[in-house]
Amino acid sequence: MIPAESSVSSLIGIPTQRPTAWWLETLRKRAERMYGERLDLSKPVEFDSEEERLACVKFFNAAYRAEESGKAGAHRLAEEVRAWDPDLAECLVLYGNEEGWHRELLDEFLAHIGGGVTEMGWMVTSFYKTYAKAERMESIMLTNLMFETIGATTYRLSLRRVKQPLARQVLTILTRDESFHVPLNVHFIREILKHHPERSRARLKAIYQMVFHSLVLLSLGSRKVARDFDRISWKELTSAYIENLGRLFVNEPDLDFAPPRHLLAAFGMSRGSLRNADGVDAISVAAAEAAARREDVNVTPL
Ligand SMILES: [Fe+2]
Ligand SMILES: [Fe+2]
Repeated sequence: MIPAESSVSSLIGIPTQRPTAWWLETLRKRAERMYGERLDLSKPVEFDSEEERLACVKFFNAAYRAEESGKAGAHRLAEEVRAWDPDLAECLVLYGNEEGWHRELLDEFLAHIGGGVTEMGWMVTSFYKTYAKAERMESIMLTNLMFETIGATTYRLSLRRVKQPLARQVLTILTRDESFHVPLNVHFIREILKHHPERSRARLKAIYQMVFHSLVLLSLGSRKVARDFDRISWKELTSAYIENLGRLFVNEPDLDFAPPRHLLAAFGMSRGSLRNADGVDAISVAAAEAAARREDVNVTPL
């Protein structure tokens, strides 16, 4: 069911812990139904202006690139992980397939609105180049997790104002699935670190800080090209990025990643306020498990 615009919360579920067997079983069930879900392409999408259509093409191009790199990263990692944990490798393959399916949906949608896959801007290109160069599994997974987080945040916020039914269908599918992928990526990071306890946490923490700052910059850059479509102000988007990226690890002391204080302070937040936000603990378990079952997911306020 597609939610009413005013009822969509910008908060996304924060990680919860489950064993690999749970993730694998859940991913297998999701895979059985995945290709049965189709976009309703029976009607043309009507835009208020050409500017809005072009901004929509840009918006979903950014999403397309994220799906593409998510799929490639997951399948690459699956090959590395297979030797020591075949079940985890299978989870990575199924997860990558979900991103591949998203990419196919976006391909169809972009063609339907007279767009297509276009060249990326310099900021996004340099971002993906850095990501593609990441060699260590845990670095790739951490970066990917942060991408998933901002993806889920942007889609969820967009649902507040985007009116076209088909665009809302795509956004609803992406919001629902990326919200499930966030805790799944946390599981991948935990398992990889368990297998490689010698790997430097300091290095990972530095990556967390670097990616956090880059994504905040990216949120500012995206306003120029996508705002005519999603109607999200820079302040709204940037503070939602900071809040959701900050909340990601606030209740995960074993991973010990702390969001940058100066960015939190600039948007009136603190580590304490993120930790104590209303209902956060209730969200963590409920959201991951609810998002796991596609058939009864409802993208409602968390
Ligand atoms: Fe995706
Ligand atoms: Fe995802």
